Amino acid sequence: MLLRPALETIGQGEPIGVRATHPSVEHDLRAWCRVMGHRWLGLSPSGAYLFEKGPHAELGGADWGVRIPPRKDGDLETRDWMLGRVADIPATADTTAGFAPRGAVIEPGVPPFHFTINERDAVWAAEVADLYEQATASQWDASKDIPWSALTPLPDAIERAICQLMTFLAENEYSALYVPAKFVPQINPRFAEVVMFLSTQMMDEARHIEAFTKRALANGGGLQYSALSTQLSLKSLFDQHDFTTASFLLSVMGEGTFLDLLKFIEAHAPDPATAEICRRARIDESRHVRFGIAHVKWYLTAAQENAEKLMAAVRQRAEYMRSVTEVSPRIVEALALLAAGALEADRLPAGFEKVRVLLHEMNDHRVKRLVACGFSGEQAAEMSQMHTPNFM
Ligand SMILES: [Fe+2]
Ligand SMILES: [Fe+2]
Repeated sequence: MLLRPALETIGQGEPIGVRATHPSVEHDLRAWCRVMGHRWLGLSPSGAYLFEKGPHAELGGADWGVRIPPRKDGDLETRDWMLGRVADIPATADTTAGFAPRGAVIEPGVPPFHFTINERDAVWAAEVADLYEQATASQWDASKDIPWSALTPLPDAIERAICQLMTFLAENEYSALYVPAKFVPQINPRFAEVVMFLSTQMMDEARHIEAFTKRALANGGGLQYSALSTQLSLKSLFDQHDFTTASFLLSVMGEGTFLDLLKFIEAHAPDPATAEICRRARIDESRHVRFGIAHVKWYLTAAQENAEKLMAAVRQRAEYMRSVTEVSPRIVEALALLAAGALEADRLPAGFEKVRVLLHEMNDHRVKRLVACGFSGEQAAEMSQMHTPNFM
């Protein structure tokens, strides 16, 4: 405690002496000098332990006097922590800063951490701190916040359709959980807000898996069928090894399309629990979509040729999925039945017509989201057409 302020008063290369009587001082001080980068000189004739202030000794520069300005209601918001050294988001992050929080002063000698995503443009999004803030404020409880007790027996055909859709939604949610999870340990902690946002997304997706699975099991039905085409589509998503490509395919293309799907199921839900699950899940999904759009926008602004990389990824995925040209019949039929309201021959055509309109709207909205990312109208239309018939 005495030594540190004393060191601050001398320059690099200047000697300093320590007088102490404890027998372990020589050993401890020598080790400390090694760690701190000072040059050990030994015992002086006058009986002081001497060392020379080293080049790395100036760990100074730590922030002091920083204060997050509180919002009106006294809240401290994450987006407001961009103060002092924390505000310095590097374009290329150092891999020898380990898990030190961005803004801390780091002692030299940290072993390299094997983060593979160290470029800001590969993960960053302008509104990421805002989206994280919204996510933490919007968590809900699938055990308590869904009106489960309002469930009453439904006609078998309708219950079966709901259970089929819940099965399909749940499997897609697994991919939405696993894809970000796979990237989190690769992202340099200098980009903490992205890691924190993705963690909220993972929690959201876990809750969606929970809610959809519970709905399938809650009213006398059970989990139904998983289509090969769905698994093919989800595997092609999970196998992506580039963060931006995965985020683009998952969030902009897939989760974006799911916004329309969830809205449709909510609108035609035969019971309040199903409607509420879809409503709540859609609000969460719209955050994931906004992160995806904000990141892709950032990525395309960084280099316009990046657009071609993402288009290539869409083409490649379409090629992998070429054996699948239509939405799984079980899903189309379940959606049409919900929209028709009953398994009656004269009502079904109207249900199928509503599904046709839904598919059309999904395409229109995808194009709009792609344009919002920064793609041209032509690029957007081409990519939207090639999107997987699995929706996700
Ligand atoms: Fe989800
Ligand atoms: Fe999501």
